[in-house]
Amino acid sequence: MKIIAANFKMNGNTQFIRNWFSNFNTDTENLVVVGLPAIYLENSVRNFNTSNLKIAAQNVSKFNIPGAYTGQISPAMLKDVGVEFCIIGHSEARDYFSEDNESIYEKYSCLKSVNIKSIVCIGESLEVREAKNQLNFISDQIEKFKTMEDEIIFAYEPIWAIGTGLVPTQDQIEEMSCHIKSHFSQKISVLYGGSVNSNNSSEILNMKNIDGVLVGGASLNAEEFANIAQS
Ligand code: 13P
Repeated sequence: MKIIAANFKMNGNTQFIRNWFSNFNTDTENLVVVGLPAIYLENSVRNFNTSNLKIAAQNVSKFNIPGAYTGQISPAMLKDVGVEFCIIGHSEARDYFSEDNESIYEKYSCLKSVNIKSIVCIGESLEVREAKNQLNFISDQIEKFKTMEDEIIFAYEPIWAIGTGLVPTQDQIEEMSCHIKSHFSQKISVLYGGSVNSNNSSEILNMKNIDGVLVGGASLNAEEFANIAQS
């Protein structure tokens, strides 16, 4: 069983999401996780969560105790409305909201405390890869997690592959996945994300050390995403 995750990012509306779920064929052995904008989570959990389809948040506050954090949604609030997964550390959140490895780790810990599974996004820029520094860069991103003993789900999303149509070679993906797993003794899942679509998903999902995919643009089309989930 692989994890097939969608990240809608800031797309969709009530009608779009309703249509998406009525068009999405859930007939797959894989675990499907659908990351929605926060405002649609509660209703979607109520209507669309099943044993092999889980609704995910796309981010969360690093603060778990209620308080003066205007605009924030806490892990406990996600839990309250039945959310079971949360994407954290996405390169867009790192970029636009200056999130760093420390705050992402805090989010992971808070989510863990309320039993929500994190999908921790990591990935290097083109500049870092061109300098052949990607392995060290990823080691830094996961450094804080090394003391954790639980099963962690990472999503390796090289920034240069997000929304660009560029996909790393099989060797590059496998190398990174093995590199990530080599930091841990427990079972770790590594998803690949970046320009995944139904044409390249089987090849990616067949890679020995890849445990799933995280799909942005192509996930917005329910039929396309169902094809990925069934590949
Ligand atoms: P694309 O699939 O659009 O490249 O986006 C990947 C991504 O950022 C998923 O989190």
